[in-house]
Amino acid sequence: MHLVMLGPPGSGKGTQGEMLAEDLQIPHIATGDIFRRAVKESTELGQKAQLYMNRGELVPDEVVVGIVSERLREPDCKKGFVLDGFPRTVGQAKALDEILLGLGEKLDGVILLKVEKEVLVGRLSGRRVCRRCGATYHVDYTPPRRMGRCDRCGGELYQRKDDGEETVRRRLDVHQGQTEPLQIYYRERGLLHTIDAGQSIERVFTDIREELGRGQ
Ligand code: AP5
Ligand code: MG
Ligand code: ZN
Repeated sequence: MHLVMLGPPGSGKGTQGEMLAEDLQIPHIATGDIFRRAVKESTELGQKAQLYMNRGELVPDEVVVGIVSERLREPDCKKGFVLDGFPRTVGQAKALDEILLGLGEKLDGVILLKVEKEVLVGRLSGRRVCRRCGATYHVDYTPPRRMGRCDRCGGELYQRKDDGEETVRRRLDVHQGQTEPLQIYYRERGLLHTIDAGQSIERVFTDIREELGRGQ
């Protein structure tokens, strides 16, 4: 299955995208994660992306599209993928259509996670991420067993640099301006599944599975 997770910062694209990919046995591909890894490794891409990410702005389309296009050609994507954080502009959506056309594939669905703005701010300010394996926690909703340490690998938990209040506000504005038009793009193509993502993590996951015809 070829799926896209759409939704504002903090809506749960990463949380649900990972669960869905595991369920479907396909890769979860998050452009934000790719960039954060590049920043950590201080590659040329990382240095370029960092400037935009720290401001809460989008990395230019031509940079992102090149990275995704390469990634989707990897053999593990043959059975499908869950894309998270891409596309983010109509230009990127058109580029994705082209990439898939070239691979003889097409999108099966777009999951739109809808959440109230106040809830998003609370989710982002309480998020903690494992430095080693990338697992995501929330200090109130999904706390780790041991404070500051990852349950999975024991790695150190940190707060993402772009989760500070000012950058969060900018990210939410950028989402509204540049990413919301995508909903129209996919609705017109009959691909959009809207999910109430303000519910518990488990409930949201059940609803997504039902939308995709995988409920019991
Ligand atoms: P990216 O990493 O994609 O960030 P984002 O879109 O802002 O989304 P987040 O990762 O912040 O939120 P999420 O929806 O994944 O929520 P999560 O599951 O973690 O992008 C970062 C930056 O990279 C961008 O700003 C841009 O600069 C650049 N970039 C990336 N892709 C790009 C592209 N295509 N084009 C251009 N630039 C690009 O959940 C959040 C928290 O809430 C967690 O703590 C979680 O535990 C908790 N939580 C989740 N669900 C629930 C629930 N149901 N109930 C309670 N808590 C919950
Ligand atoms: Mg994410
Ligand atoms: Zn870890």
